[in-house]
Amino acid sequence: MANKFYITTPLYYINASPHIGHSYTTSAADTLARFYRKAIGKENVWFLTGTDEHGLKIQKAADEAKLSPQEFSDQVVVKFRDLWKDLNISYDDFIRTTEKRHIQTVQKIIDILYKKGDIYESKYEGWYCTPCESFWTGSQAEGGLCPDCKRPVERISETNYFFKLAKYQDWLVGHIKNNPDFVRPQIRRNEVLSFLELNKLEDLCISRPKERLSWGIPIPFNPDYVTYVWFDALINYISAVGVFDDKGKYHSKWWPADVQLIGKDILRQHAIYWPIMLRALEIEPPKTVFAHGWWMIGDSKMSKSRGNVVSPLEMSAKYGIDAYRYFLLRDVPFGMDGNFSEESLIKRINSDLANDLGNLVYRTLTMAEKYYNGKIPEENKTLEKSKPAINIEEKIEHLGMKVAGFLRAEDDFNFGGALEAIWELIGMANKYVEETKPWNLAKENKTEELKNFICLLIKVITAVEQALAPFMPKTSEAIQAQVSSDLIQKGAPLFPRIETEESKARKNK
Ligand code: ME8
Repeated sequence: MANKFYITTPLYYINASPHIGHSYTTSAADTLARFYRKAIGKENVWFLTGTDEHGLKIQKAADEAKLSPQEFSDQVVVKFRDLWKDLNISYDDFIRTTEKRHIQTVQKIIDILYKKGDIYESKYEGWYCTPCESFWTGSQAEGGLCPDCKRPVERISETNYFFKLAKYQDWLVGHIKNNPDFVRPQIRRNEVLSFLELNKLEDLCISRPKERLSWGIPIPFNPDYVTYVWFDALINYISAVGVFDDKGKYHSKWWPADVQLIGKDILRQHAIYWPIMLRALEIEPPKTVFAHGWWMIGDSKMSKSRGNVVSPLEMSAKYGIDAYRYFLLRDVPFGMDGNFSEESLIKRINSDLANDLGNLVYRTLTMAEKYYNGKIPEENKTLEKSKPAINIEEKIEHLGMKVAGFLRAEDDFNFGGALEAIWELIGMANKYVEETKPWNLAKENKTEELKNFICLLIKVITAVEQALAPFMPKTSEAIQAQVSSDLIQKGAPLFPRIETEESKARKNK
């Protein structure tokens, strides 16, 4: 296992409130950060998130709100911070691209690359998509439409600054080929590789004339231009850890990032532009860029521009933060697209959380209260163990390793697999209760068997609570509070069943 762990999320645009998609990436990153804090110590983990505040999208949104872009950003950033607080997100640093530490770093980098000759001035003629702030060649903008958003492009001709992407294309192909974990999952890696094999990269236009867009970081040597929002934003991952501070000491503790989590919509920027920018700066690329899939509503991606967003705040307030997190990480294999619906969220809550986990904790603690007045009995180690008990003990022993095994880049951060492993143990324990019939043990006065039975269930609950902590931190704490070293303090069931119209109708039959 790594001896330090630096994980990042994208910097979200603040032109609108955060939605489920944003909370997905951030909750996944939070789970990994929490997992690593437990594994290698809090001081060795750095979890960065933040907001992307420059560019036309923000300028437009600010205009609509009749605020300056800075005032607008200052207002919306609060929504992001509050949401992360409400969702129990344990970030170590939150960077805004309008902060001085970031602006200075971006300008310094542009200066370095300009002096090096990797940034140059040139006349550009071609097609431009204003909403996407992207340049396209004639063949890319087929039919006069932006290949990304399908809106009409306009013809422009202007002088700009360009970054030499093409110069580093061969290096990038070699790097991706030699480092199987650099772009994950495999399907995204193949996508990037085949793109690079089929297309010759064009240099990236990294400036915008101020007369067209003023809300950006000024190009240090030409005040008539601001920096292209993507060139600005990507740099956050190193400006946040102080790449030029203190002779790079702080930076070298964290960089290269271990995992950069993104959605597949921003793969090109993270798997092509970003490593090349770093290469030009002679800075190591991140170890892994992982692009997960999309949350869809029906057939379309949930997104601000489509107006089909679901609020994470509303969902977590209605169903609980941990249940919401559990659903996001469990319902869809990490890397694939998934369909969001409240019905499937409720299904997960009722089956996995209420029936399986909640029931195991509640019934175990009820028995401990009933038979031992809430004091956990002493295990009788001389008693022979039954086969199911041996199997359960084995599962407990290997659970931590198993979960750790899933949460690696090589395994595509298989949160679902890790949770399944935990639920396998919960399932075995519930089955064990049903098959052992503890009420019979009590009736037959099999006191030693009953003691060991309860002890084993308490061990299961403790192992589950430990393994679950990074995924469901509040639930883990709630279980801990109920099962201290030798005393039980049973609370209300952890996850009450959620009644649906269907279940109500069934009851009333
Ligand atoms: O792209 N499903 O910001 P952004 C899953 N500022 N994840 C989703 C999602 C969905 N439907 N919608 C959004 C930007 N996301 C740039 C990034 S980084 C230097 C600059 C998540 O606000 C996912 O992580 O559009 C996606 O990549 C990100 O939000 C895009 O956020």
